[in-house]
Amino acid sequence: MKTFYIETFGCQMNAHDSEKVVGTLVQEGYNQVNDEAEAGLILYNTCSIRDKAEQKVFHRLNEYKKLQGEGKRFAVIGCVAQQEGTKIFEKAPYVSLVAGSSSYRNLPEMLERLEAGETRITGLDDRQTDQTFDTEFTARTNPHRGYITIIEGCDKFCSYCVVPYTRGKERSRTSASVLAEAQRIAQLGFTEIQVLGQNVNSYRDPSGRRTFAELLVAIGEVNGIERVRFTTSHPRDFTKDIVDAIDATPALCDHVHLPVQSGSTDVLRAMQREYTRDWYLERIQWTKDAKRDISLTSDIIVGFPGETGRDFEDTITLLEIVGYDAIYGFKYSPRPNTPAIHMVDSIAEEVKIQRLAILNARQRDIQRVNYGRHLEQTLTVMVEHAANSRGQITGRSTQNKTVNFTCDTTPAIGSYVDVRITQVFPNSLVGEAISVPIAPSAALLAQQALNARVTVLG
Ligand code: SAH
Ligand code: SF4
Ligand code: F3S
Repeated sequence: MKTFYIETFGCQMNAHDSEKVVGTLVQEGYNQVNDEAEAGLILYNTCSIRDKAEQKVFHRLNEYKKLQGEGKRFAVIGCVAQQEGTKIFEKAPYVSLVAGSSSYRNLPEMLERLEAGETRITGLDDRQTDQTFDTEFTARTNPHRGYITIIEGCDKFCSYCVVPYTRGKERSRTSASVLAEAQRIAQLGFTEIQVLGQNVNSYRDPSGRRTFAELLVAIGEVNGIERVRFTTSHPRDFTKDIVDAIDATPALCDHVHLPVQSGSTDVLRAMQREYTRDWYLERIQWTKDAKRDISLTSDIIVGFPGETGRDFEDTITLLEIVGYDAIYGFKYSPRPNTPAIHMVDSIAEEVKIQRLAILNARQRDIQRVNYGRHLEQTLTVMVEHAANSRGQITGRSTQNKTVNFTCDTTPAIGSYVDVRITQVFPNSLVGEAISVPIAPSAALLAQQALNARVTVLG
């Protein structure tokens, strides 16, 4: 029996790519196993965004090495595969397949060559490809959320970032194909869809029929869909009609993730983000002026080359002005192939550590206030995890806030429950169910059972 084991790192797009890779492998007659020792083919779907990611991959491959000689085959896919290319064969000769995300549509053919015994198979497309990885064979392994990638790649070339080199140029799917997928997801019983793209709002319908905002509305109107999320939005392409779409469409969630990276216009210029602090804040004001209570979250990099104490202070004041509900703060990490790696005036590691600590402490205070507003409110929560050891069930509000709650019954994953908030923390809310859970459809339960089988079958 052909078996495989897959491990995935990185962003949600990588997680969803793995769902498509799993679907393709199952279609090709492979069975997924949970233990690499039992697998004939071991795949490692990699991320290279920060922190010497490639070294970690080689380290991990070294651990796998002890399994070679038992007829096992190894494949490195994803962003480190695209970045390092055939160097991977030199450093880890037992690897047989190296493929970046823009070549996954050729996976069936690559698998055939692998089965025929070839040992140096590559899928390393350059930035020229126009192809997207559309496949019907997607293993929907997330038990409550269906993902749709609407745009792949990135053309923004921020000076610190590897993504334009690892994911190829920006290319969008037609809105008709996206909507057909949204309908398939709804038929499987999912009520939540997450729309994905490195810069999801840079979407350009190749058929010219819909803008990004119109596509969001159309997805939100698909029968059975209750919640639509989208990540990641780039401030450059964030238009007012996105806010209007949220205001007009109940299924669009009250949440926008709009990474600012820095609050200093000088640093933004050096990062090649192509917007200023004021330009960003104008977009924030649109969301604050909306009728809905739109939650805002962000990514921030501290210690970019040349970032002065004053620049960092600008980031802190921006946090306060926006009042984010969550941020993902990172220390700047020099990456291969990117222009920023050659920039002088790099910031000492201790300073980066210190700035990140200040950033996180300040953000925690902001969240304490923001989350505090929910005390005594009733929020509709979608159940994401079964009860923990304390008997609490975990789910999320439309704003994507984590809610831990107690309930007389045990709601299934994918149910909706109204929860009264009784306690607030800077990162989560606690409450008690005040409605009978609306259970997921039989179709979703069947889909969940199917995926449980995909994961455990030997
Ligand atoms: N396309 C999205 C984010 C993609 S990467 C955007 O432009 O906002 C996710 C996050 O990783 C980025 O928002 C950034 O904050 C962080 N990141 C990317 N490259 C980095 C680097 N070299 N060092 C530190 N953080 C980085
Ligand atoms: Fe990277 Fe910038 Fe593209 Fe985001 S927009 S993926 S940070 S290059
Ligand atoms: Fe990582 Fe590639 Fe995503 S570098 S963050 S897996 S696009």
